[in-house]
Amino acid sequence: MTNQILRGRKHLIALNPNDLPTKWLNMRAVLPEKLPPVLDPDDDKHGRVEIMRRIRPQAMIQQDETNDEWIDIPEEVLEKFVEIGRPTPLMRAVELERYLDTPAKIYIKREDLLPSHSFKLNTAVAQAYYAKKENAEGLITETGAGQWGVSLSYACNMFDLKTIVFWVKVSVNQKPLRRAFSEMLGATVYPSPSTMTKAGREILDKNPDHYGSLGTAIGEAISFSMEHDSYKYASGSNLSHVLLHQSIIGLETKMQLELAGEQPDILVGCCGGGSNLGGLIAPWVRTKSERPDTIRLFAAESEAAPRLSRGRYMYDHSDPVGLTPQVLSYTLGMDYMPPPVHVGGLRQHNGSPIIGMLKHKDLLESRPYTQEEIFEAGRLFIQLYRIIPAPETCHAIKATIDLALEAKRNNEKKTIVMCFSGNGLLDLSGYSEILNKSK
Ligand SMILES: Cc1ncc(COP(=O)(O)O)c(C=O)c1O
Repeated sequence: MTNQILRGRKHLIALNPNDLPTKWLNMRAVLPEKLPPVLDPDDDKHGRVEIMRRIRPQAMIQQDETNDEWIDIPEEVLEKFVEIGRPTPLMRAVELERYLDTPAKIYIKREDLLPSHSFKLNTAVAQAYYAKKENAEGLITETGAGQWGVSLSYACNMFDLKTIVFWVKVSVNQKPLRRAFSEMLGATVYPSPSTMTKAGREILDKNPDHYGSLGTAIGEAISFSMEHDSYKYASGSNLSHVLLHQSIIGLETKMQLELAGEQPDILVGCCGGGSNLGGLIAPWVRTKSERPDTIRLFAAESEAAPRLSRGRYMYDHSDPVGLTPQVLSYTLGMDYMPPPVHVGGLRQHNGSPIIGMLKHKDLLESRPYTQEEIFEAGRLFIQLYRIIPAPETCHAIKATIDLALEAKRNNEKKTIVMCFSGNGLLDLSGYSEILNKSK
């Protein structure tokens, strides 16, 4: 491994592209128990499991079901990873440590440096590669806040695939610049509900001003995929194959911590569907289940959808209208209506069954944060580093600050490692609205 600890002010631990991990780590294989199967409550009527099998690339179905611990990363995906700037640096946050006057050391994994602005690009590149290999013309998806829509558009552009994005109408209207980003990458964006599908037309017939929801967008993306066989359907979170692809984050982080001579005491990630957190913690999950006292795993949630902290562990659909199969995880129930906050990526009622099992087995802690407190944490970060965190990322920053202050109170020299999931340059309107309100 070629060590490059850059000893400038930023304390960056960089890896050489030749050091990129060549295998993904499958968390299904390192969980304390086998993951229970997905269910379809009335298979004969809807065949949800079969529909998903039909519309996704076959490689994604296989990766969702395999219990093999290590999966080779195809050479072409590794090449694209280098092109997008992987391995990403790990940064020692000395200024934040000093500001908090804490004995804790804070390390930050910089996924915001990817050119689509977030970690979502890791799985987007992999899914686009497999879709291309299976001769798809393009990929279809839904997006809320838009980090996923932009990342998929970016990856499809790399593999010369078309992208169709059903984008929740209210979000796309709030964030026209993110839409422009996707469209410049070549994507076709349909604000949802749209006239492109029967489901969308029915909603618009009843209410032409309907502002859409993740449910309408998922419904349209799935039905459009069913009507267009030459395309495949892609998802940006929750599923085992998405967490698998995101394990690149944790695998690089582990190498970087080894270079710095560190062992993590606490790993922190924000958690919506769970792929960002899952990607970071993947290499430590076995250690956590075998020796629970040696490390803490921490999920930072939004108060708008505190599903790990206050939800129930039960089978439920992953989408809000019941089009997808049911998984066993923590859920707030399909009818849950989150308040309209600026953290589009952390508002879902349900999430990854892998993360759900870790919480259920008491291997994962979680805490929800309000919009006001996370934007304050984001503002502090901007003042110290001149880097704008995505609102989702601000949750992880707030949790890291709290944990570093806890270490200070207990006079403990903890090593805290956080994933910086995305850049918030296109979310500045959210910052100004909330922070100006609280002035
Ligand atoms: C910047 C950013 N961070 C974190 C998340 C949450 O990701 P996950 O669903 O994997 O928990 C999102 C989701 O959209 C995001 O855009």
